[in-house]
Parts: sequence; structure tokens; C-alpha cells
Amino acid sequence: MEKNYINTYKQSVEDPEGFWGEAAEALVWDKKWDQVLDASNAPFYHWFSGGMLNTCYNAVDRHVDEGRADQNALIYDSPVTNTKQTYTFRELQGEVARLAGVLKSNGVEKGDRVLVYMPMIPQAVIGMLACARIGAVHSVVFGGFAAAELATRIDDAKPKIVLSASCGIEIERIIQYKPLLDKAIELSSHKPANTIIFQRPQAEAQMLDGRDLDWSSACEKADPAACVSVAATDPLYILYTSGTTGIPKGVVRDNGGHAVAMLWTMKNIYNVQPGEIYWAASDVGWVVGHSYIVYAPLLNGNTTVIYEGKPVFTPDAGAFWRVIEEHDISVMFTAPTAFRAIKKEDPNGELLKKYDLSHFRALFLAGERCDPPTLAWAENLLNVPVIDHWWQTETAWAIAANCLGIEQLPVKAGSPACAVPGYQVDVLDNDGQAVADGDIGSIMIKLPMPPGCLPTLWNDDERFVDSYLSTYPGYYLTGDAGYKDEDGYIWVMSRIDDIINVAGHRLSTGAIEEVIAEHPDVAECAVIGADDALKGELPVGLIVLKSGVERGDGEIEKEIISLVREKIGPVCAFKKVVIAARLPKTRSGKILRGTMKKIADCKTYKMPATIDDPAILDEIKIVLKSIGYA
Ligand code: COA
Ligand code: AMP
Repeated sequence: MEKNYINTYKQSVEDPEGFWGEAAEALVWDKKWDQVLDASNAPFYHWFSGGMLNTCYNAVDRHVDEGRADQNALIYDSPVTNTKQTYTFRELQGEVARLAGVLKSNGVEKGDRVLVYMPMIPQAVIGMLACARIGAVHSVVFGGFAAAELATRIDDAKPKIVLSASCGIEIERIIQYKPLLDKAIELSSHKPANTIIFQRPQAEAQMLDGRDLDWSSACEKADPAACVSVAATDPLYILYTSGTTGIPKGVVRDNGGHAVAMLWTMKNIYNVQPGEIYWAASDVGWVVGHSYIVYAPLLNGNTTVIYEGKPVFTPDAGAFWRVIEEHDISVMFTAPTAFRAIKKEDPNGELLKKYDLSHFRALFLAGERCDPPTLAWAENLLNVPVIDHWWQTETAWAIAANCLGIEQLPVKAGSPACAVPGYQVDVLDNDGQAVADGDIGSIMIKLPMPPGCLPTLWNDDERFVDSYLSTYPGYYLTGDAGYKDEDGYIWVMSRIDDIINVAGHRLSTGAIEEVIAEHPDVAECAVIGADDALKGELPVGLIVLKSGVERGDGEIEKEIISLVREKIGPVCAFKKVVIAARLPKTRSGKILRGTMKKIADCKTYKMPATIDDPAILDEIKIVLKSIGYA
């Protein structure tokens, strides 16, 4: 049969066991699976049950054994420290095995959790792989989160050990990680037995005797640890992501289904062959980093790039072009916001003229909807396919994409193209009925989802079912709304919950509101995601003060901004807050956040039928105007 999108897609949904069973043959298994898809405990589905393997073996050791020992596995490129460093697969194997030995000798066993709080340095990847090597479950926390958020994750994952570094570097600013970690451990009820700290020359961390170990000296003394066979269904990692409350969701990833899916996507979605150099400009703290900086490229025998810098200001808006040329990148992946940042600094792409990108084949964008002007700008400048693809932390890989390794479909700007093989995507109305083509509804995925998607939430099967599986039986709720067109293209238009997307980072406005509500002068508040030309959306807070509070001069606003930064972290980019006399509500007391967002974005809105006092909307318009919106 001819390999094209339609045939491949049909095969994947008509015979998922045959399809994924064949894909799984590309990995090295210690023991083959008994069942490709185990539906015995639906709606909890398990892929490759009975199978045994090791993800680190397949990502690293396998390539040493099969002829890639001297190929670069990692390229570390850090414009903020002026460093470039490479690790071959053999060198990476040595580093990972030694750190795994350190973890083992400090009591970490199969199934134990290890929290990773690291900047974008090779040790972050080495840390993740060392856990996978001995069957420990890593949980990486993005460096831009504050101590309180880190503490929440420590309490939920209960790690035996935390891997961290003395500092991260944000353009020119040194961010001391160790005091943040110390504070988090002070705040958490669960106390990790040890931390292992990678000392960077830019800042030395103060070590606590008996608890904190020095990464480099521990590794020097360590016996390398071998790969441990784990069940395909055993957890590889937990990655926390924003839910609709302040308590993040611990998305669980298994070993077998994940490795199968990751490897399949490299050839079929990204069209990248083993040996090529692939770059995802993201951060290991996000799912893009887990999947496309670490696991997928290494499983596929690619060289992956760890870039410690920004698209702009490190040193200029030509930074991405330099990396693509210098490291011979064939395919790159980043978020549209990065391209908007480049476009802002260098609208005509003058800096590109300094570089030769003739070997560069494709740019993939995800993390937020790619607005058509940014897509067109990138296409015109780079003259290669620019592929928007849609996915989320929960799935680990694209739900909708233009799969370049199968068949390149025509690009429709604003749509991430069609459902990727393995995903049955339906758009449903409020009664769970499929809507007509072109009509907006809730985008749902029919169960079972393909391998690699979350089997559950960490220690919380009930929340997994409540959050994702209970809306319409037999379906997974993506939380996104949109429509399908007559060609089967999916258009992802908005969220149905309180999640907003700030520079490709997923944040919960509910979580920000919870923090603001802690301020003693605040009676009530609402946070909306207002449109932003650079970051897609920015959180904007509207607060109502308790009666009798008379402090003025912007003091309260400043305190609230600091509170959110201290409790959630700088990643929130929460810088706009304004005092309102009252907030618009329905007669039943629900705050009309959606209407306020439309006012902020200067969009037309329908007067909500249930509003208790329409005049409040005029007041809101005035206060939003005072901070540059509406
Ligand atoms: N550790 C500590 N602080 C961090 C951090 C980290 N790892 N990452 C970001 N921050 C801080 C930043 O310094 C900034 O702080 P500030 O408010 O004091 O300036 C804040 O968090 C917001 O960071 P960021 O979202 O990176 O915004 P920015 O204004 O510094 O840069 C872009 C804007 C568009 C250049 C940047 O967001 C970017 O490169 N995005 C790429 C897309 C991406 O990585 N998406 C992730 C998913 S694919
Ligand atoms: P995260 O879990 O942080 O990766 O965020 C996932 C969410 O980001 C999705 O549910 C969407 O709301 C949004 N998103 C990611 N990629 C896209 C895309 N290509 N188009 C539209 N929205 C996207």
C-alpha cells in the first residue's frame, strides 16, 4: 500500500495494536510485551503490558553498542556563559552511568522519585537519563518557578533526592537556584534526604553539611551503574502542569508506550533520520524539552542541542540562525512567541543574511496557536516548511500535525493540520454530540489514546478521571475548543477552562487569583489573559479592595505583583494589576472573566443575559484603559 497520510492514519485507528506493535519493534526490549494494548481496566489503558525495557539503554547505550559511540549525542551551546561543549554517545553514557551510581549509592531505588531543578545545562539531561537508567522516576521543575511552587511539587512527588545547580543565567542576570531550593525544602512537609548540587563558576552555592552533596566530586568517586530493566508500564517521569486550581497536576509518563511513540514521531512527524542534528529551543522543564530535547532525538540516534540562551539579546535576534548554521541543524522546534520576539527586533530578517541555512529543512512550532502573520513571516524568511502542530503536556507528542515524514499536506495558516495517526479527534457540543464541520465545540480525543499519552495523574486516579475522562464517556477532554473543517483540518481556537498561554508557558489564572486573594487588603479579584503581541497572552489582575482600605499610590498593586512573583515565579510575567470598584457578575455570582477579556482585547461582546448590573462593564473598560488595555 502507498504510504500517505490517509492510509497511515486509517491503519493506526483501524488496527492500533498492529500499528503500534510494529512501531515498537524499532526499540530494544529486554522482554517483549504480552499485549500491545491492555484494555482490561478501561478507562485506564496500558500499552505494551508485560514488556520490559530500559529507556536510557535505548536512548544512549544502544547507540554505543550499535555504532554511534563517537557521534555527538549532545551539543551544549550557551551564549550566556560563552561555552560550547559536546558529548559523544560514549561520553554521555559514562556521565549518565556515574551519576546513576551516585543516586544508587545514596539509596535511590527503582520507583523512587528524584526531583530535577536545573538550568539548561547538560547535567539536566544527564540527571534525567540517570534516573531512567536505574528505574527512578524523575520530576523536572522549570527554573522560573518560585520556591512555593517547588515545595508543592516536592510534597506531591516526595523525592528522595533533588538534583540542582548553583545558578541559572537569564541573559545577564544570575539566578541563584540553591537559596530557592533551600526555601522550598523549608516550606515542604516532605524533606528529601539529599540534594546533589552542580556548582557553576558564575555562583557558588552554600552547602548544608550532611544533606547537600557536590555533584562533580560525587561523580568522580562513583561506580557506574548499569541499566535496570523496568516494566513498559512503570513510570518514567512525572511532569507537573497547571490545572484549574492552584494544585498542579502530576502528569505520569510510562516507559514503554512513551519510548515507542517518541521514536515513531521523529521519523514520521519531523522527518528526521538517525545521525542528523535536531534542535528544540525550549527548556527541559517543559514537556517540549522532555520529549524533543531529551528523549525523542536520543532514542532516534540524533544529536540534540541544549541551548542556554534566548532568541533575542543573547546577543541579538540572529541567535537562532547562528545556532542552525554552526551546528548544522536540519530541523528545529520552538514556540511562535520566540519568532515574534525575533520579528520585533529584526522585522526584515537582516541578521539572517550573515548565515548560511541552506541545509535547514523545516521549522516546527507549538506551545500556543501560531498566528498566521508569524507563520507567514517565518515562511518568507526561511523558505522552508513552517509547521504548526498542536499538543499538550498530557499527550507528550502532537495530536495534530502536518506529518512531514508521511506526506506533506498543504499548509493552512492558523491550523495545525490534521489528526496525527493514533489520535481520533472529535469536536463535540455540550450534549456530547459531534458538531458539523466548521462549528466550534470542545475538542475531544476518543479513548484509548495512543502510546505515550498519560496513563494517569501521579497518585490520583480519581482526579485523572474527573479532570479528563468524565465529561463524555469514552473521550479524553483536551480543554481546547475549536473546529474541524471539510478537509479534516483541526482549528484550535481557545481554552474552555481558566488556562492561559504566556510565551508558550501554560498558566492557570485560578492559581494566580488564589495568590492575590491572600493579600490582606483584597476583597475579591479576577485574572484574565489579555492578548499580547509578543507573548500571546499576559495575565491581568483586577482587584476589589476591602472596604476601609485607603492606601493609594500604587503600593497595593506593587505588593500584589511581588506576591505573585514570590509565590508562583517570574515565569508568570504578572506585571499588570488594577483596582476596580466592583467586578461584573452573573446573577448567580459568577465573575464574567470572558467578557472582561473581550473588553481588554477591544473585541465586540454580547451583553451577558444573566449579568446583574450592565453598568459595571463601562467601569471595567475605564480601569482597563488606565493600564493600556481596552
Ligand atoms: N529561571 C529563572 N527565571 C526564568 C527562567 C528560568 N529558567 N526562565 C524565564 N525566567 C524569567 C525571565 O527572566 C523573566 O523574568 P523577568 O520578569 O524578571 O524579566 C520571566 O521569567 C519571564 O520569562 P520569559 O517568558 O522567558 O520572558 P522573556 O521576556 O524573558 O522572554 C521570549 C520572552 C519570547 C524571548 C521567551 O519567552 C522565549 O524565548 N520563549 C521561547 C519559547 C519557549 O521556550 N516556550 C516554552 C514551551 S515550547
Ligand atoms: P502545554 O501543556 O504547556 O504544552 O500547553 C498545552 C496547551 O497549549 C494546549 O492545550 C493548547 O491550549 C495550547 N497549544 C499548544 N500548541 C498549540 C497549537 N499548535 N495551537 C493552538 N494551541 C496550542
